[in-house]
This record gives sequence, C-alpha cells and structure tokens, in this order.
Amino acid sequence: MLNGERVLLRPIARQDLPEIWRLLEDLEVAVRSDAGPIHPVSLARYEARFDREAADPSKDEAWFVIEVDGRAIGQGGLYRIDHFNRRCELGIALGRVHWGKGFGQDAVRTLVGYAFEYLSMNRVSLQVLAEDPRAVGAYRKAGFVEEGRLRQQGWVRGRFHDELLMSILRDEWESTGESHPEPAGN
Ligand SMILES: CC(C)(COP(=O)(O)OP(=O)(O)OC[C@H]1O[C@@H](n2cnc3c(N)ncnc32)[C@H](O)[C@@H]1OP(=O)(O)O)[C@@H](O)C(=O)NCCC(=O)NCCS
Repeated sequence: MLNGERVLLRPIARQDLPEIWRLLEDLEVAVRSDAGPIHPVSLARYEARFDREAADPSKDEAWFVIEVDGRAIGQGGLYRIDHFNRRCELGIALGRVHWGKGFGQDAVRTLVGYAFEYLSMNRVSLQVLAEDPRAVGAYRKAGFVEEGRLRQQGWVRGRFHDELLMSILRDEWESTGESHPEPAGN
C-alpha cells in the first residue's frame, strides 16, 4: 500500500478487474493512454492477462489500483524498470469522471516517491501527447520537466500528433522536499 495525500495505491486484485475495465475501456481514456491501435478489449481478456501475469509475474513492472475513499478510480504503475541504469517509465490512467480533480498528480507523486525511495531509481520518464494539457499539467505539478518533443510520434484520431518526453531525476525530487529520508541512526 502506498499512501498519497488523497489517493491510496494498492496491488491489483482479480475482483478489481470489472471496475477497472469499466473505467478504462473508454475511447477517451484509450486514445490518450494507448500507444498502439485502439481495439476493443473484453473483460475476459483483462482476466486472462491478469491470470497469466499472476502465474509468471514480470520483474520489470509494478502496477497499482488507484483508490479514493475505498473506490477504484484507475490504475498506474512503473514499467521497463531497469535496475542497472536505475530508470523506469511511468504510466497512469483514471476513469473519465475522475479527471481534473487533482487525483492524477497525487498518484504520480506517489509513484515517483515509490520509484526513488523503494526501488532506488534515478530517473522516471514518460511520453505524453503534447496536446493533452491536463496530463502535461498533472506531470508538471508532480515535478516532471520536458526534455524533448517527439514530432509526429503517434497516430491519434486520423492524424499524427507530437508527444513530449518528460522526466524527473532523483536530485530534482530530493530538492522539492518530496523525499522523507529516515533520520540518521534509524
Ligand atoms: C492524465 C491524468 C492521469 C491526469 O490526472 P488528473 O487527475 O486528470 O489531473 P490533475 O487534476 O491532477 O492535474 C491536472 C493539472 O493540469 C492543469 N491543466 C492545465 N490545462 C488544463 C486543461 N486544459 N484541462 C484540465 N487541466 C488542465 C490543471 O490545472 C491541473 O493542475 P492544478 O492542480 O494546478 O489545477 C488523467 O487525466 C487521465 O487519466 N487521463 C486519461 C489517460 C491519460 O491521458 N493518461 C496519460 C497518458 S501519458
């Protein structure tokens, strides 16, 4: 369990899948968060994927349900976790009704804290549609900075769109006061 200011991040359980599927299998969510073609994905496929991953957990990913007041609002996590270069990527998606209420930036801060504090990462990065001001705004508020613009990187709704490459480094996170190191001697 990871506590944010308003969100709680916990492991995904099989019984979460119907609600996560309902929240995230939404065209408006999918076009913003999926890098590939948009296909309808059944709940049965969510469950089959969950079962496969439960039987053979991936070591380079860590996904959580994002909860507010005991209800799932979305999911988020870290992937491509690379312990040699100490870097990983961050992904997040909330159900549409939960957008724009500050939950995303809280969950992103919590994931970043987990990456630096518990996984010893040095860099967390992501790619986001340049024309999605809500997502870019949430990442900026959580301390991410733009480090590049990938021109015409993704095909979304009939045309190519630019994406921003954003990242936060351990030094930057420490200087924001988000880190809470244990007092010396503990
Ligand atoms: C991206 C996402 C996780 C962000 O979470 P969120 O809870 O909606 O965002 P927040 O409310 O925490 O932060 C948005 C910030 O952007 C700012 N912002 C700037 N322009 C905005 C706009 N046009 N519309 C909404 N917010 C805007 C807001 O003001 C807010 O900052 P604030 O705290 O100063 O008000 C969520 O919107 C989502 O799941 N979207 C669909 C999937 C997706 O895009 N995933 C990311 C793929 S990279």
